Amino acid sequence: MLTKAPKGTKDILPSEVYKWQYIESIIADVCRSFGYKEIRIPVFEHTELFQRGVGDTTDIVQKEMYTFLDKGGRSITLRPEGTAGVVRSYIEHGMSSLPQPIKLYYNITAYRHENVQKGRYREFHQFGVEAFGAKGPSIDVEVISILDLLFKKLGIKGVELNINSIGCPVCRREYNIKLKEFVKPVIEHLCENCKTRYERNPLRILDCKEDKCKSYLKDAPALIDNLCDECTEHFEGLKAGLDNLGIEYKVEKNIVRGLDYYTKTVFEFVSKNVGTQGTICGGGRYDGLIETCGGTPTPGIGFALGMERLLLEMESQGIAIPNDEDIEIYVATIGEKADRYASKLVYRLRSEGISAEKDLMGRSLKAQMKHADKLGVKYVVVLGDDEIDSNRTVLKNMKTGQQKDVSLDSILDRLRRKE
Ligand code: HAM
Repeated sequence: MLTKAPKGTKDILPSEVYKWQYIESIIADVCRSFGYKEIRIPVFEHTELFQRGVGDTTDIVQKEMYTFLDKGGRSITLRPEGTAGVVRSYIEHGMSSLPQPIKLYYNITAYRHENVQKGRYREFHQFGVEAFGAKGPSIDVEVISILDLLFKKLGIKGVELNINSIGCPVCRREYNIKLKEFVKPVIEHLCENCKTRYERNPLRILDCKEDKCKSYLKDAPALIDNLCDECTEHFEGLKAGLDNLGIEYKVEKNIVRGLDYYTKTVFEFVSKNVGTQGTICGGGRYDGLIETCGGTPTPGIGFALGMERLLLEMESQGIAIPNDEDIEIYVATIGEKADRYASKLVYRLRSEGISAEKDLMGRSLKAQMKHADKLGVKYVVVLGDDEIDSNRTVLKNMKTGQQKDVSLDSILDRLRRKE
């Protein structure tokens, strides 16, 4: 127990962390170019926020949340996603009084007590975006195009965009009647959860994962065929906007999404590669959520992308991620005087932004050279009394084997010039 991480959690080891840093830096660049600012939100919130925001008939709230009473007896939940927390922050900090839209992004951990399998964990990482205040479909297109560009920049191909509309409260009221008419004759064959959902939130029945329920529901009426005029117009605007940018998509009537806050546009980016967990990213519009959480009515849209699933996808596509972590120079030493000199030299190099190492283990010169090799350093210099007295040493390029006689004072300049 003591030496094993809890089920569904993973260490990101130093040998892998460069991949995360690389992807996060591309995310930051892409978000900056779209004018989205980073927000950092707490790991835990009041449970009620998720009950109300995510919805208490969803699997997340019913089965998957890490909820506990804190020492003050308050019910606290580890965030199962980021949207509710960002919405809470938007309201709490009066962001509605700033020029709209407010465009935010985040990189967070999230927590869901799920059945663990490839691409599905209990602690996982999401890159997400939320945009508040814009009503028309242009922002839907913008948000989707962030992902399109991100995939391009990361060299990811073959991820399909599926879009759908699940309407607004107006069309949903009519639709719920139709759906319930369809479900009524088969209700006794559905699972207990679906029976409750039939009464409380019929649309959620379409998100049931039970094979038996799925088979009874496969011919159920789709919301997209029952949209009101405003929602139809919005969806047409979304499609035209995507066409305009040359972003390919498929209209997928079955997307309902696993969270209750969605209205109108919903979308997912799906891959065939990541085993059974093919949905790399999901999102949509949530025009009622800010009001539900206590703010003034404000439209919103966003998405979240599963970082673990993104990495699995990149791996399965054989995409190489650059690793710039190699140490630039290793200063090997013979004797105490050289060791003291080397300490000063590496400190100076480091303060100039050049990564430098020296021995800290009392290794022999031969062992230092081996260690430098294992570290994959680009250059090695050897310092002994003679080198210090003559102010000259040999700079060896470990990749090419080339050696240059150089003055000690010139090492920094040479490394800067990448000679
Ligand atoms: P979601 O579909 O629940 O949406 O999650 C988004 C993405 O997070 C999924 O597509 C998947 O890649 C990843 N994910 C979810 N659960 C797990 C898990 N257990 N293990 C690994 N990855 C997982 C949301 O979370 C919404 N907040 C998205 C959103 C933002 N909608 C509007 N704004």
